[in-house]
Amino acid sequence: MENSGLNKTEEGDRIFFWPSEEIKQKACVNSSEVYDQAEKDPVAFWEDLASKGIAWFSKWEKAYEEKIPDFKWFIGAETNAAYNCLDRHLNDKGDKTALIWIPEIKEEEAKKYSYRQLYEEVNKAANVLKSLGVKKGDVVTIYLPMIPEIIISVLACARIGAVHSVVFSAYSAEALNTRLKDGGSEVMITSDGYYRKGKIEDLKKKANEGIQDTNVKKVLVVKRTGNETEITEKDLWWHEQLEKADNECEAVKMKSEDLLFLLYTSGTTGKPKGVMHDTGGYITQAYWTSKWDFDLHEDDVMWCTSDLGWVTGHSYVCYGPLLNGITTVLFEGLIDWPNPERPWEIIEEHKISVFYTAPTALRLMMSHGKEIPEKFGLESLRVLGSVGECIDQKTWLWYLNSVGKGKCPLIDTWWQTETGGTMINSLPGVGPFIPAWAGNSFPGTRHTIIDEEGNEVIKTGEQGYLVQKSPFAPGLLRGVWKNPERFKKTYWRNDKYYFSGDGAYRDDGGRFRIIGRLDDVLKVAGHRMSTGEMENVIDKHAAVNEAAVIGKPDELRGEVPVAFVITKGEIDDKERLEKELQDMIVKGIGPIAKLKGFYFVESLPKTRSGKIMRRILKSLIKGEEVGDISTLQNPESVEKLKEIIKG
Ligand code: WTA
Repeated sequence: MENSGLNKTEEGDRIFFWPSEEIKQKACVNSSEVYDQAEKDPVAFWEDLASKGIAWFSKWEKAYEEKIPDFKWFIGAETNAAYNCLDRHLNDKGDKTALIWIPEIKEEEAKKYSYRQLYEEVNKAANVLKSLGVKKGDVVTIYLPMIPEIIISVLACARIGAVHSVVFSAYSAEALNTRLKDGGSEVMITSDGYYRKGKIEDLKKKANEGIQDTNVKKVLVVKRTGNETEITEKDLWWHEQLEKADNECEAVKMKSEDLLFLLYTSGTTGKPKGVMHDTGGYITQAYWTSKWDFDLHEDDVMWCTSDLGWVTGHSYVCYGPLLNGITTVLFEGLIDWPNPERPWEIIEEHKISVFYTAPTALRLMMSHGKEIPEKFGLESLRVLGSVGECIDQKTWLWYLNSVGKGKCPLIDTWWQTETGGTMINSLPGVGPFIPAWAGNSFPGTRHTIIDEEGNEVIKTGEQGYLVQKSPFAPGLLRGVWKNPERFKKTYWRNDKYYFSGDGAYRDDGGRFRIIGRLDDVLKVAGHRMSTGEMENVIDKHAAVNEAAVIGKPDELRGEVPVAFVITKGEIDDKERLEKELQDMIVKGIGPIAKLKGFYFVESLPKTRSGKIMRRILKSLIKGEEVGDISTLQNPESVEKLKEIIKG
């Protein structure tokens, strides 16, 4: 599709980009009327979208019901997520490429699956799971790298009504263990290994450790690397099982409100939460947010760079594109390995039209110089997206100009594991696209800003907590696995609002600018991590009395974790202690949580009730004024900390 460019206007110190007439004409949505229409009656609006986008086995008796913290969509209706991703495309798109898998090693060829091939693989895998005793409602843990089997496993679970719980393959054995225990899985799917920078990572070793003291009885093992690894009596080779399996397996009729998946995410406490997503609401939202945000058309090839271990991978590598019957790209490797040309080679070779990635990845690409993308033919690109963290103006403009050649709508999508799909962004055919501004709520959803007391902040420009209002988005989480109390306490305010944990403010057009987390959740290179989880790990060291982990601004990764540690008495070998703590972090969580600084201190600023004042630590690390410290139990700690930080 030919590009014709964007129009530009300026308002105060902001630049607005608008879709050209040509982009508008071809776009799925090209007028802001859709927002007004949705706002009049969001429930009727979503009903209409659900009927048009999703194949239902039976219709709903009632569209929406709410009694906070519970709410339901499409009550009584039946559908199946895998059926919607595969079966209904078979007639007219059976031979169309559903999935392009790009291995990390360049010498290995990309592998394509047509919709029919993917359908058959999913059916076989579903039959294998059934033969292992997996039934509707059972939780299956998927601990796989970015290989086709991860998508096949996810859809095989969905097909038989099992609840998938994907655990990021770079998480450690301990992190896997915590998630397995909480989910209660009896069956797990993993692989012998995977490639990282050309070397084999022994995933199976971590898997073997991770299943200790859990309910896991059977482990399906995909042979990816062929490395030698310990095979136990619980293991079954994926390929041997699939070879024997029948390629037809009926898709189970799922109630719209039946669970589709669990995805563990970090909160403010040390224990990860199993975020619960339902079937009908989630797929309705995944379908339409994909279609409208990325302006999907029949011939689109979408590359979302997120790992399937994160929600972005669930919704925009797997479900969203496949529900829409387009081609999705699954890339095993790192964005700049073995060379910084890699992403552009992929875009050129596979004629990617929709590219969706995170600001950290963009900053990394940008750091290699603008001549790198210039060497490639990127004219297949039509829509660009950003997700996961705040994008600064410099990176935004580089993305627009060096990647999109100033012609592609660039959408900055705000959302969370909990919201299931994008919530706040501009639409390609509507605009405007403003650097660092996410935009408006997706049609049919409502967001606002509240203050500490829970009152709505009406004034433009005033910062507060970003919340969602009733009726809640169809894809919003339905609960925290086995923990209704935590669900209620974490996410709901004044019996009225879904509480996001992010700070934001608005402009006159009701557009949102996201400031970032206001709680103790970190976003490191777009990855969501809990300071509490890291502190729990560090606290286990015999020499540690107390620790506080906070995020320190970082040019490339957005923020990085640093630890303030109070030790038990004097320590003679700081370097050794740092190494031991780092090893514990890698073992307890994974390399993504590595600490980027240690400060050994005598005391930490505390309130009179003994709570560590992280706000002060954050200000100190940024070199900002700390403000009023008179209410502290130990105000003298602040001066000492300043000196230690200065080094
Ligand atoms: C942050 C990722 C600024 C935010 C989909 C949110 C963003 C957290 C944006 C959720 C954005 C996500 N601009 N910040 N466009 N998108 N965030 O659960 O702090 O991994 O609360 O979901 O990422 O992270 P999660």
